[in-house]
Amino acid sequence: MRYLTVALTKGRLARKSMALFEKIGISVQEMKDPETRKLVFTDEQNGLKFFLAKGPDVPTYVEYGAADIGITGEDTILEENRKVLEVLDLGFGKCRMCVCGPASAGELLRQSRQIRVATKYPRIAKDYFYDVRNQTVEIIKLNGSIELAPIVGLAEVICDIVETGSTLRENGLTVLEEVCPLSARVIVNPVSMRMENERITKILRSLSSLAGQD
Ligand code: PRP
Repeated sequence: MRYLTVALTKGRLARKSMALFEKIGISVQEMKDPETRKLVFTDEQNGLKFFLAKGPDVPTYVEYGAADIGITGEDTILEENRKVLEVLDLGFGKCRMCVCGPASAGELLRQSRQIRVATKYPRIAKDYFYDVRNQTVEIIKLNGSIELAPIVGLAEVICDIVETGSTLRENGLTVLEEVCPLSARVIVNPVSMRMENERITKILRSLSSLAGQD
């Protein structure tokens, strides 16, 4: 039997994903070792292979078929825009994509002014401002600590993930508009979905019966 391969997002999302797999009787003991630097783990019993990748790379592995299944955040899936099937919302890793800034920037949005938007997610920001708001903006791609941008005068607003809201609060910023809700999702390679339909559907059914329970 061919191994089904699952690409996980390194870190907290992988741990939460494996906790879910464990509940459906799939577990890889080796992956629980906090010291391990291994990237690929095999579950001989169930004919499964798991590997750990950076979030934005998960849709790439799935599109090319190097992984049949992938688990990553909806933010990453939207931003990467790969040819994959999004099949299940796992209900954890819940947060929101928002336009944020100092409260005073709300007026610039209302007036549809040509502002600068700093973000790690240029595609999501572009789709939102151009297609949803019909507002021309300048998008500036950053790689992290996005909240800095309006504080130091790089951009008027940011388009970023808000989970608890504490990063915003501690930096004197606020949510101005919500772009979309986010959570961990399962994606599948379209060819794998046809060729391995029975095995993949079985896993998805089991996962979906548990999704959102924690
Ligand atoms: C994310 C996000 C916000 C923060 C939101 O950043 O970009 O900065 O978490 O969480 P909160 O609402 O609970 O404060 P992350 O910590 O992933 O790192 P980054 O700044 O490098 O993107």
